[in-house]
Amino acid sequence: PRCIWLSRHGESLYNVEKKIGGDSWLSERGFRYSYKLPDLVKQSAGDADLTVWTSTLIRTQQTAQELPYKQLHWKALDELDAGVCDGMTYEEIEEKYPGDFKARDENKYEYRYPGGESYRDVVIRLEPIIMELERQENILIVTHQAVLRCIYAYFMNVPQEESPWMSIPLHTLIKLEPKAYGTKVTRIKADV
Ligand code: F6P
Repeated sequence: PRCIWLSRHGESLYNVEKKIGGDSWLSERGFRYSYKLPDLVKQSAGDADLTVWTSTLIRTQQTAQELPYKQLHWKALDELDAGVCDGMTYEEIEEKYPGDFKARDENKYEYRYPGGESYRDVVIRLEPIIMELERQENILIVTHQAVLRCIYAYFMNVPQEESPWMSIPLHTLIKLEPKAYGTKVTRIKADV
């Protein structure tokens, strides 16, 4: 039976600096995850064949670089665009754009960064990805926190408005298995 696996990219240099967005490399810890990922996938998928989808950003491609499967890179899987706040920490955003910081906290799903995107925008740009996923066999998606929240909410039948608060931790492989009663979820945490 077909399955979908989800993973965030390994810890990036921006994650370490608590900066959002950008296109940074993985940290050393993030690279350790990339070296462990093939075994995690093997544990979960056995010898099944699968295709890896990443975003076009360096950190997802570095995370997937050791995986011995066919790979595709999708712009539609790039992280939520934080517009003028790209590259800032949440503290810097709160200081420089206090009104925006508050507005986002009050309605994180609808809030759109100036010059960037909202979660709703991401859900809309993911529509072709979701359609393609429904047609495909086994797929492993290596992408970003906000994007994974939206994909996860879709397959778990959670209302999209709740997606901005879903927990998708780093260094964890999530397996989604469609069953008659719903979707079975298995999470494997890597020790990195
Ligand atoms: O911090 C990592 C990150 O992927 C950022 O690039 C992105 O802006 C953020 O998480 C999305 O999470 P939230 O919507 O909770 O700010």
